Amino acid sequence: MFEGSVIEEKRDYVTLSLPALQQTAARPTRSWKRICRRWKQLHRLQRVVLWMLGFALVIALIYAVASRTESHTEASHSVESHAATSLESNVTPPPLPPNLVIDPEGEDNAQNPEEEEKKGADQIIPPPELPVKKNARQEAVISAMKHAWRGYKAFAWGHDHLKPISRSLEDWLHLGLTLVDALDTLWIMDLKEEFAEAQEWVATQLNFNINQDVNLFETTIRVLGGLLSSYHLTKEQVFLDKAIDLADRLIAAFNSGSGVPFADVNLYSRRASKPKWGPDSSTSEVTTIQLEFRDLSRITGNPIYENKAGFVTDHIHKLPKTDGLVPIFINAQTGQWRSHSTITLGARGDSYYEYLIKQWIQTGRTKDFLRDDYNESISGMEHHLAARTEPNNLLFFGELHGSTKNFVNKMDELTCFLPGSLILGVHYGMPKHHKRIAEELMYTCTQTWLRQPTNLAPEITYYNTQPTSMNEDFFVKSNDAHYLLRPETIESLWYMYHLTGNKTYQDWGWQMFQGIETHCKVEWGYTSIGNVKSSVSTKPKDKMESFFLGETLKYLYLLFMDDQSIYSVDKWVFNTEGHPLPIYTH
Ligand SMILES: *[C@@H]1O[C@H](CO)[C@@H](O)[C@H](O)[C@H]1NC(C)=O
Ligand SMILES: *[C@@H]1O[C@H](CO)[C@@H](O)[C@H](O)[C@H]1NC(C)=O
Repeated sequence: MFEGSVIEEKRDYVTLSLPALQQTAARPTRSWKRICRRWKQLHRLQRVVLWMLGFALVIALIYAVASRTESHTEASHSVESHAATSLESNVTPPPLPPNLVIDPEGEDNAQNPEEEEKKGADQIIPPPELPVKKNARQEAVISAMKHAWRGYKAFAWGHDHLKPISRSLEDWLHLGLTLVDALDTLWIMDLKEEFAEAQEWVATQLNFNINQDVNLFETTIRVLGGLLSSYHLTKEQVFLDKAIDLADRLIAAFNSGSGVPFADVNLYSRRASKPKWGPDSSTSEVTTIQLEFRDLSRITGNPIYENKAGFVTDHIHKLPKTDGLVPIFINAQTGQWRSHSTITLGARGDSYYEYLIKQWIQTGRTKDFLRDDYNESISGMEHHLAARTEPNNLLFFGELHGSTKNFVNKMDELTCFLPGSLILGVHYGMPKHHKRIAEELMYTCTQTWLRQPTNLAPEITYYNTQPTSMNEDFFVKSNDAHYLLRPETIESLWYMYHLTGNKTYQDWGWQMFQGIETHCKVEWGYTSIGNVKSSVSTKPKDKMESFFLGETLKYLYLLFMDDQSIYSVDKWVFNTEGHPLPIYTH
């Protein structure tokens, strides 16, 4: 159907060729007399046959002109049908700029400028956010997304997580986490039908008036972030309305003695509390909500969100640090570090560093202290955390434990966000040697996946820094051998490919995706597994995390995209849950 109209459009273009028209017009005049002579010499029967042929030709011409006009009206009227049809077909027309769309009656209409203008408005080309061509690897990732969505829809619709093996669900924050996390991924992959049903659920079912404590950080990065990026991509008001409702409840968390937020907040009573497991908030949690709250203030013009969250950044900027490195716990009442807590680039530390550079980018590189704190922290990592393995000299970043700050040679998969942040920083003018660190750490992170028989990374890896008889660069304890469908390494692969164009990163990502397809895919979705160290005994955990749809599959899709300009890091800054937000000028 659609291919047909492509051909029609091409034909229109050809018939406008003027020299061709003049040639065919000139020929009949020259030989008119000769034709008349021949005609008179013909038999009556011959004349009848020729008359009939001529008549048939005229009918065919009229029919062709009519159907051509029809297909034109269709093509120029609806951008939506254009985009929607592109889903079903790999062959899509290159979008014509409005002034090149040819109108058979164009000359008449040209007399009326108003009419012309209206037509121009109808003929909007598809926005660049809608990629039209997809390669085989992208199609494979789209299939994975559809498969995950199918299971979620069948057994966990509107709930936080799918349990794909028991075909049931699990709630945690009671906010439809997987659905909201997946919104912009569906949009980016052009899965319009699935997006529409998810949007409908957000509009009619997503309810924040629930009497339950939720984690401020998790709710901000997944739900607020997901709603905001969906708003930016689609401009649908419902996402903004929901984002405002949610943020108005979440800001109660900042009502602490210091302005550093409590870890949890009750969305109904709007009361905040310290987490059940202890008196402190996690450093990465209180410093990884600023992109989202600032974005909401910039959209609405209401400064309260940006001010509350920005205060935390300013406050932490003033606290003492170890060469830019921070402890992983902070007391919300006093606003002071818990000084005997660990320094790590993994859990509870990681995205503090990520949001320094990303906040600097989001605010148009106008807040120098963010860049300087980031730059200093990278130096701190080089001095205090960087180490190399035996026997192959692989770079990794360890941890400084507890009050003794003893070096521990372990690195979380979570830490593999770092090559992405480093190369992003280099793109924005940070020291050139950060690229070398990014490349080396990217390689190490990739090895933690591809040296396992499953091609999947464990949650935590220990590194050999001494020569041993084992002759392995790293090893995995059985308690740490699980893979939770995490995205960080793949996320960094996307940044590395996006900013260097080196296709090796795509190939590494493809191998990881094969690991996921082979060992995590089940009949009704994808499951976390308990053991990456054996391809025959993976110990499926029966849980599909929301970030698998929000991040892992999104970054795989972006990694394999041919046109990297569409989600350029010059236009978008991705929050720590993979939700793109716009970059502002200040
Ligand atoms: C980053 O810090 C290094 C010192 O560690 C300094 O030489 C460099 O100029 C700084 N770069 C930026 C962009 O601030
Ligand atoms: C691409 O990246 C790989 C892995 O870092 C590296 O070995 C290779 O030399 C790079 N290729 C080019 C052309 O830079």
